[in-house]
Amino acid sequence: MGMLVDAGSMQEKSSPASFPFALFFLAGVLACLAPGFGTVCAGQAAGEIYSTMPVPSRDGIGKVYLGREISHVMGHLGAGWLERTSRELEERPMQLVRSLGLKRGMNVADIGAGSGYFTRRIAPEIGPEGKVYAVDIQQEMLDIMQQKLRRYGIRNVVPVLGKIDDPKLKENTIDLVIMVDVYHEFSHPHEMMQGIIRALKPDGLVVWVEYRKEDPLVPIKELHKMSRGQVDREARFVGLEFVRSFDDLPRQHVLFYRKAAKGDKGGGEEKATAESALPGK
Ligand SMILES: C[S@@+](CC[C@H](N)C(=O)[O-])C[C@H]1O[C@@H](n2cnc3c(N)ncnc32)[C@H](O)[C@@H]1O
Repeated sequence: MGMLVDAGSMQEKSSPASFPFALFFLAGVLACLAPGFGTVCAGQAAGEIYSTMPVPSRDGIGKVYLGREISHVMGHLGAGWLERTSRELEERPMQLVRSLGLKRGMNVADIGAGSGYFTRRIAPEIGPEGKVYAVDIQQEMLDIMQQKLRRYGIRNVVPVLGKIDDPKLKENTIDLVIMVDVYHEFSHPHEMMQGIIRALKPDGLVVWVEYRKEDPLVPIKELHKMSRGQVDREARFVGLEFVRSFDDLPRQHVLFYRKAAKGDKGGGEEKATAESALPGK
């Protein structure tokens, strides 16, 4: 069904025929986000939670999840951009790594690891007894990553060829999941998050690192950015709760979540959220 779902820009995109569908979808999303409805909605069949835009935007795939159009995946030919030297100054990657609170022996999953830019920076922090599971859906990216790991003599990394809807991680094995600049391009965010949550230990953390959509000065395409509120909405929808944020990076949000306490499947109670933790909220 080619319904209109981009709730954020409804006026520009609505047509008389699609308007009732838009209202229906919007009502569904609002109901899911209302207190008490989180559990029901998170358990819906995946087919019901996505919809399709009549015309995809230039950088998007036309598939919409919770009011957000999903972006295209960055191809492996973009590996050079991921490894650009200016990234140190633009993104301060080691500040991000230090904010994670890594400890020796941890199991970390770097989902959408790409060329391994963060995998290489995380691996030494957890020592030889820890492991980074570097997951990507492009074998070419994993090949580039492995070449670099060999060059730097890094051995505690397990490359994992994931699927678009499955990170291929073992249940209850991961202490910390990090997703840098990738979540917005998951073509199946709901299924991916279910796999990620399954792999997470009970006290594990999931960390979203996304370019700040709220900041027009961040020079990244709109669909490749995410607002803090949107991350919060999508995290709570799958039963996670906000823990803390690290707000000192020049361009990116760093948002930490954990599994919601039993009986609160996220979105169910008024708790601290990434949005409410903002100054002035
Ligand atoms: C923009 S790159 C970011 C790479 C790396 N995190 C970094 O910051 O340098 C996004 C990566 O996510 C991968 N990706 C996209 N969807 C994925 C999925 N469902 N599971 C795992 N990786 C995925 C892409 O193949 C690509 O390598």
